Amino acid sequence: MSAFNKTSSLMARGVEFLGSEYAILCGAMSWVSERNLVSAISNAGGFGVIACGAMTPELLDAEIAATRAMTDKPFGVNLITMHPQLFDLIAVCAKHGVGHVVLAGGIPPKGSVEAIKQGGARVICFAPTLALGKKLLRSGADALVIEGMEAGGHVGPVSTSVLAQEILPSLAAENLIFVAGGIGRGEAIAGYLEMGACGVQLGTRFACATESIAHPDFKKAFFRASARDAVTSVQVDPRLPVIPVRALKNKGTEAFSAKQVEVARLLDEEQLAMGEAQLQIEHYWAGALRRAVIDGDVENGSLMAGQSVGMVTEEEPVAEIIAKLLHECEAALTTRAAA
Ligand SMILES: Cc1cc2nc3c(=O)[nH]c(=O)nc-3n(C[C@H](O)[C@H](O)[C@H](O)COP(=O)(O)O)c2cc1C
Repeated sequence: MSAFNKTSSLMARGVEFLGSEYAILCGAMSWVSERNLVSAISNAGGFGVIACGAMTPELLDAEIAATRAMTDKPFGVNLITMHPQLFDLIAVCAKHGVGHVVLAGGIPPKGSVEAIKQGGARVICFAPTLALGKKLLRSGADALVIEGMEAGGHVGPVSTSVLAQEILPSLAAENLIFVAGGIGRGEAIAGYLEMGACGVQLGTRFACATESIAHPDFKKAFFRASARDAVTSVQVDPRLPVIPVRALKNKGTEAFSAKQVEVARLLDEEQLAMGEAQLQIEHYWAGALRRAVIDGDVENGSLMAGQSVGMVTEEEPVAEIIAKLLHECEAALTTRAAA
């Protein structure tokens, strides 16, 4: 009998779908989720996902090949739907026989789900509401991730706990639903599995693993931070839309607010056209995640992190993090069953 008997039994559908030992995905994190972290997650029994982000098809091709060289376990690729070469990236995944493609960043464009399936991969989509979840499943998504606003990176407005209550009772019995956002310990995993989820996705908890190539200063910022430091970007002016991103507050966050005020003033004074103003806001953070993760610029870069960052206190190997999560989950399920 497995040491994680109850957990494994509740994860059985997710495990069968992913082909991993446990239905614990490490959500793709741009710049962080590359060959080292992805292969470490999959080698430890989880399911690693390469973050394609803004990579060219050539770079993705090389990243998949390099990851394959480091693990013979299954892993997936996360593609951003608005990437201008989305269909070329899908072809690269097919060429490598990638088993699972995660589509992030909005409703999948026409033909993309079909193209992924033609290439032999399963499709995982993000469902921000119950209605959209049903639509995505009807359009061919094989599994859904529901991600609450506690998560790191781009977030919607609704918390994980509410999304889980709205979506799992309707969809989880018949469909594969993974829950993400704010998960830092196994007790929370137990809760979502008991509600019908077939597995979970974590990002923040894995970002500073020993195998993560994130800069030591990026990791230090995570270890120091508490939940309330991981805030969403604030929109200052209704004319200048800001997509909410959850990250640790730093000098860059303050400068971004000041920039919005300044651009709004130039708009008021008609010194700037609306299109140009909006573009300046949209492009403000371009390259900022790379500056934080790779260069270690924790003052001006974007320190994307979820609220679970307070539970990330030291560098640990991926295998230890996964073992801890499983022990906590199994203990919670055992206690509840005995009560
Ligand atoms: C540093 C960082 C970068 C991220 N980049 C991406 C990304 O490129 N694509 C994506 O779909 N999600 C991205 N995410 C979200 C994660 O894949 C994952 O869903 C999320 O971290 C889960 O919530 P948690 O942080 O509360 O565990 C990112 C998250 C972090 C913390």
